[in-house]
Amino acid sequence: MILSIESSCDDSAIAITEIETGKLVFHKKISQEIEHSVYGGVVPELAARLHAETLPKILEQTKPYFSQLKAVAVTSSPGLAVTLIEGVTMAKAISIALGIPIIGVNHLVGHIYSLFIEKETTFPLTVLLVSGGHTQVMEVKSLTDIKTVAKSMDDSFGESFDKVAKMMGLGYPGGPLIQELAKDGDRLKYNFTVPLHQSPLIAFSYSGLKNAVRLAVEEAGENKELYKDIAASFEHIATKHLTMKLKKYFKTNPPQRLAIVGGASANLYLRSQIEELLKPYNAELLLSELQYCSDNAAMIGRVALDMYKQGDFSELKELNISPKSQL
Ligand code: KG4
Ligand code: ZN
Repeated sequence: MILSIESSCDDSAIAITEIETGKLVFHKKISQEIEHSVYGGVVPELAARLHAETLPKILEQTKPYFSQLKAVAVTSSPGLAVTLIEGVTMAKAISIALGIPIIGVNHLVGHIYSLFIEKETTFPLTVLLVSGGHTQVMEVKSLTDIKTVAKSMDDSFGESFDKVAKMMGLGYPGGPLIQELAKDGDRLKYNFTVPLHQSPLIAFSYSGLKNAVRLAVEEAGENKELYKDIAASFEHIATKHLTMKLKKYFKTNPPQRLAIVGGASANLYLRSQIEELLKPYNAELLLSELQYCSDNAAMIGRVALDMYKQGDFSELKELNISPKSQL
């Protein structure tokens, strides 16, 4: 079995995956959403302190499996430096104590593999990753053949939801809160500009839209009734930006199979708009199970399973965190 640890942001999670069957025999995640909610976003130092409390508590529950562990895997990149280090230090201690190899896993590859938990991998695949830290399109042919074809020049799709929710004083994470508020709003009430709509670039940008929404929120002042229209119009334009750029990309690279992964792939409006977009191509849409869209250790274990089979281990002394590494 492989024990996997995830602590790249504000979720402490540990999973155990059976090597022969790929079965997930243990998975526990403790989110810090409530603790960060008052600040309207993740406070790195607080997140690190909470990981230091919760990871050992979860690890204790995995003790019955210790004698069967053949490797320990951990998210080592990208993410918050102070939180990545918590998981990596724990993984190194386990590796030394049990005399088993260590596997450093890239968190973004983890999100791609969230599609394949307790399943076989199926490539090739075009992947749209929408999370709190990333917004990018990748062509994935295998574990080691991943090409990024479009990415954000500034903020991410998920982060823009977090910031809009913060502006409205709604809490964190903003994605589900804005989605809920937008349900009863008028998507066409606010005519926000679609980012980069005149640019030939196939890239994403959310900072301008965020600022436009900030002005609308300020203008609404105490009239909170308008918040639902602002939320709905924002969700509409944030999503339209993704679908317009994907459409442009598909002109030269028609999709056969498109996957949406990452925490924000849970967004229902995004899912429906992408389904619409794919209709003329007759392309298959792949989604992770809802519980595996946001950060978790099962997806890290799933990547580790393939890395283990390929003998792709890290040197204990050389495994370091890479907070800014990209795909
Ligand atoms: O993948 P994830 O758990 O963490 C990162 O790797 O960043 O993604 C978290 C992000 C947050 O920004 C959160 O607001 C967003 O995913 N998110 C959503 C929804 N659910 C979560 N964004 C839009 N709509 C949602 N329903
Ligand atoms: Zn993530």
